[in-house]
Amino acid sequence: MLDAVDLEGWFADHGRDLPWRRTRDPWSILVSEIMLQQTQVSRVIDRWHRFLDRFPTPAVTAGAPVAAVIDEWSGLGYNRRAVNLHRCAVAVTERFGGTMPATLDELLSLPGVGAYTARAVAVFAFEQDEAVVDTNVARILARTAGRTMTRAEVQRLADECVVGRDPWAWNQAMLDVGAAYCRPDPDCGPCPFSPVCRWHLAGGHDPDPADGSAGVSGRQSRFEGSDRQGRGRLVRALRHGPVADEDLAAVMGWADDTSRAERVAATLVADGLTVHVNGRYLLPS
Ligand code: ADE
Repeated sequence: MLDAVDLEGWFADHGRDLPWRRTRDPWSILVSEIMLQQTQVSRVIDRWHRFLDRFPTPAVTAGAPVAAVIDEWSGLGYNRRAVNLHRCAVAVTERFGGTMPATLDELLSLPGVGAYTARAVAVFAFEQDEAVVDTNVARILARTAGRTMTRAEVQRLADECVVGRDPWAWNQAMLDVGAAYCRPDPDCGPCPFSPVCRWHLAGGHDPDPADGSAGVSGRQSRFEGSDRQGRGRLVRALRHGPVADEDLAAVMGWADDTSRAERVAATLVADGLTVHVNGRYLLPS
């Protein structure tokens, strides 16, 4: 069904020219994919160049303190990704002599690298026959198939799509279609899949088959007042220096709720983003 569409042709005319699409360097691609999880393309572009200027290889990254990577991550949010990237660089340096591995299993063995990221590096750096499934791709697959799917079905359908195609262009195009048209509130007119999309052809009525389908995330929960906001405030403060126990709650924006501050700070410690020693919180060295 999807294979009836010349998506590679569509991509040649309409695909976005993004800097990480001009390289096949696996470390650069890994960095882009980690940044693009939860951060918009427009915000990632400059930061990707800057990050790679400072941390051009796994070995350089592994040789730097994790605090330096957290510092470079400033403003991108979800700081745990910085810690994972550093861990990943250490693993590549120690286990693969500093050269990024190329097989899916080896990529999956790296810390913080899950099914999506491993496949993204395999296909975007090494042009292997793999299919990436993020929330946008999962939405396209459910809608075009006209039914909600299990995780295994989604990956199987995605895998079937790339057989006999240009996997690099197919996958990049799927990400573009998901970002531009097959959004939660879709724009089906210009979508290259609208001639074959079962949901669209049936009128696009509720229920939307993407709702509740595996891999399709719900809307992001509110940031204001969330634990995530307090976590972000503490990491931002720690970039400038340690925070004493007695200042913790105020720094996190919860001056009246010390127990919440301590509970949420403990999650940062568990994630490796913060250490707690001698009555102070500080970035790990
Ligand atoms: N989101 C995740 N990976 C991407 C890519 N390679 N291009 C554009 N958006 C993306």
